Parts: sequence; structure tokens; C-alpha cells
Amino acid sequence: MTPWWKTAVLYQIYPRSFADTDGDGIGDLEGVRRHLDHVAALGADGIWLSPFFRSPMADFGYDVSDYCDVDPVFGTLDDIDRLIADAHALDLKVVIDWVPNHSSDQHPWFQASRSGRDDPKRDWYVWRDPSPTGGVPNNWIRSWSDQPAWTLDDATGQYYLHCFLPEQPDLNWANPELRTAMLDTLRFWLDRGVDGFRMDVVHLIGKDATLPDDPEDLAGLSHVPLNHRPETHEYLREIRVLLDSFPGDRMAVGEVYLLDTADVATYYGDDDELHLNFNFPPLHAPWLAHKWHRQIARAERELGPLGAWPTWVLSNHDNPRHRTRYGGDEARARAAAVLLLTLRGTPFLYAGEELGLEDAIVPADRIVDPGGRDGCRAPMPWDATPSHGWSTDDPWLPWPPDADHRNVADQSADPASILSLYSRLLAARRSSPALQVGAITLADLADPADPADPAFPVVAYERRDGDDVRQVLVNFTAEPVVVTDALAGGGDWIVEVSTHVDHEGSPFTGSLDADEAVVLSLRQG
Ligand code: GLC
Repeated sequence: MTPWWKTAVLYQIYPRSFADTDGDGIGDLEGVRRHLDHVAALGADGIWLSPFFRSPMADFGYDVSDYCDVDPVFGTLDDIDRLIADAHALDLKVVIDWVPNHSSDQHPWFQASRSGRDDPKRDWYVWRDPSPTGGVPNNWIRSWSDQPAWTLDDATGQYYLHCFLPEQPDLNWANPELRTAMLDTLRFWLDRGVDGFRMDVVHLIGKDATLPDDPEDLAGLSHVPLNHRPETHEYLREIRVLLDSFPGDRMAVGEVYLLDTADVATYYGDDDELHLNFNFPPLHAPWLAHKWHRQIARAERELGPLGAWPTWVLSNHDNPRHRTRYGGDEARARAAAVLLLTLRGTPFLYAGEELGLEDAIVPADRIVDPGGRDGCRAPMPWDATPSHGWSTDDPWLPWPPDADHRNVADQSADPASILSLYSRLLAARRSSPALQVGAITLADLADPADPADPAFPVVAYERRDGDDVRQVLVNFTAEPVVVTDALAGGGDWIVEVSTHVDHEGSPFTGSLDADEAVVLSLRQG
């Protein structure tokens, strides 16, 4: 039987920004629970919740001080239990974030570890003596800066490693006790009924024990995308055995922040490591047909032969929203939705993209994130009132642009809205095995004389599962285009879904309007 995570569409919720019920301007778990009906009505199959664990919030929850408790700003363990139960009652899966590479410096484990060189937990983190010249142990650079990934602990005279903030010391997965303790945190949540985990920068957990310098020509870049080690695969196999020991298909999707899809592919293992991995190169691709054609072909080439199931992401809590990145008006975001929801693989939506949200403009005095990612974390507007359905009109970050119109209530009522387009796409996907699990055949429409021609306007592909077949055509340009050549085998094609709602239900004319993307199905009978 096809496991749920292959056919599912997952909806990422950043809990601080989804909905606030207790008046502090920060979203909470109860806010998520009360809006699960939105996720279900949209037609997604589950949620991924960014961290809600106890945390001093130096990295807004990705610095965990207790893996097995809820931070009071988000609620209580009872709240998460209720949320999981309600989600399951709506047939929604619940995937939670798990941050295995580092804890908070306030975690009792790190407090113990830094208390003395002989502490039993010293080796749970990565400690090293200063270099012979008295400086940092190697040339690794931490994220979001040009600063070393090392901080000297004056009291004990050693440096500790942190690939992110100094408040996020790296855990030492080479230590078997630490591994057991971390696996216990997974067990805690598996027992509570979660369906899976999104594993934060999980490719970082295995490290070369000799901690060699990064190559000179890359010196100055963050170590994060450079860490690709066999030890990680060993730890992932242990994790997989644990997940498989629970009933139901408990799933792990890895944030494997490597910039080569062929490297990402190795984290699926031999179907004995991660079930899914994020593939970030497409997220960084510009909105150009020839670039996307190449990304799709590459994912098929690198993952297909391994039987590794692809994933597709356009936006998340770490990057400017794709509506903002691609520029222009909403038209490109609409066409991108057709692409995202019809490619072969598991799509991840980021809350708010179904409203076509842009990043908020965050004034300098309201910037709070050390990585400068505030814009994409703006609060979700639920309605057109001044507080947009939150319990205050002044949440922790400013509202995204145009929230008076770009909100769930207004868009739900409008059949021509981008929100309605997302619902129609999700419904089409759900009713079509071809779209959910079918093979993909990418049409080669490039000009043979110049395959990298940036003017190349259309990406087209067929999805097929037995007799069920769909054609998808995406016009990446603001010019109309004739695409008859893109349709394999002719056929009597009907526009099932279009970015241009008034084209739906009619025979396909053979051309696309500016920025139009369509899903075509064969006329029945
Ligand atoms: C991942 C998260 C990001 C976080 C970082 C450190 O990249 O997505 O939000 O800051 O890891 O945990």
C-alpha cells in the first residue's frame, strides 16, 4: 500500500505566526487547533509544526531547552495533545519539528556539560582545546555571519562548537549516551501520537571526529552546507529503526541543507534512512522555465532510479516568500501553485502562500530574528478586521501587505481568489492517482539551438498512472504562448484547473494566456 506521506500535501505552520488566542500577540497551539478546519477545507493532508518546545527563543524555538515540553508562550502539553487529537479527527497528519543537531545553551544538558571538564555530560557536546596558537580549533564559520562556529568557555578553557548561534551548541552524536537521550525524545512524541518529524539540519549530526578545516577556497562560508558525512547515515539508520518500531507509517523528512541534489539523494539510504528529504536547489531557482525544467529533470534523474520520493517546496520560514522572490503581481504565485501541486513528489505548503502573501515590510526597529528572516514570518491574517482574527491588532511582527483583502475570510468567499485556486488544485490532486503517484514525463520544449535560452516560456509534463493521465502546462512569462506542440499524442483535452478560473471546464484551445498554468484531463466518454 502507498504510504500516506507519498500522496500527502503537508502544510507548514510557524506557530508564532498562525493565530493568537491569549492576547500576547504571539501565536499559540490553541490558535493552531482552532484553525485546523482551514487546513482541512483547503484540502491539505497534514500539518508540519515548527518548534513549540521550551526555548529561550534566541532562534525562535530552534534553540530547545526541553525537547519534551511545550514552551509556555505556545501553551501546554495538554494543548498539543488536544491539537493532535483534533487533527486526527479531521484526518490530518501531524508532523512536528525535531532539532537534533543542537540544543539551547540553557538546556540542562549543556549547563551540566559546561560545568566542568569531568562532568559526565561533557562529551554530549563538542568541546575542543584552543589551537596551538591559542585560537579557535578550526576555520568553521557559523550560520548568518562571518564569525567562527566556536565560542570559548572561559571557566573551563575550551571552545564549544555551534554551527548556528553561540546560544545553540552542537550536540555530539558520536556519544552513545547522547544518542540514546535524543532517541528517547523521539519516543516521547511518537508515544503521544505524532505521525512524523521534520528533522532540522539533520545532515549536520555526523561530524568528522578530527574536525578538519573547511577547504581554503570555501573559507568564509558557513560550515552548514559543507557537512556531508558517513557518520550521519549510521545515526539515521538507528533513527529509522526506532520509527519503524511504532505502528502506522511514522515518517521522517530531513532538512538536508546541501546544495547538490545528488548529495541530498544519499539521505534516503537504501530505504532505511529518511523517508523524504527537502531538496533546496529548486527553492533557490528563479522563476524561469529553463531553470525549472532543469531542476525537475535533475530531481527525476538523481532520485528516480533510487526509488527516492521527491519533495517540492517554494516557501518556508527561512526564506523570502516565493511571491516576493518571483516579483510581479500575484500571477506568478498562481502559476507556481500549479507547478508545486502537480509535480511528482510530496509538496510542502507554507501557511499563507495560499493567500498569495508577500513578505511583510519590517521596519529596522522591529527586526527580531538573528538571521533576518522576519518578513516571511509575518502573522497570518484571518479576516479584514483590524486585528485580522488575532486577539490583538499589534502582533509580534507587522502584518503582511494588503491584509485587509488578502485574508482567509475574504478569499474564501471569492471563487477567483488564489485561495480558491489552491483548493481546486488540491481537490484535483486528491481525485487523480496520476497526480498523486503517477510517473512524470517532462516535455522537451527548449529550442534545440539554444536549450538554455532564458526566453524559453513553458514547462510541460505528463503525469500518468495506468489509464489516469493529466497534462500540466506552465507559462513562465507574461506573454501569451501557443503550446500545441507540448501535448503528447494529441487527445481531447479539457481544462480541469487553470490559474484563469473562467477557462476551466472548456476544451483546451492550444494556447496559454500570460502567466497561465493549466492541468488538463481527457474528455470522458
Ligand atoms: C534550520 C531551521 C532554521 C533554524 C536553523 C537552526 O535551518 O529551518 O529556522 O534557524 O535550522 O536550527
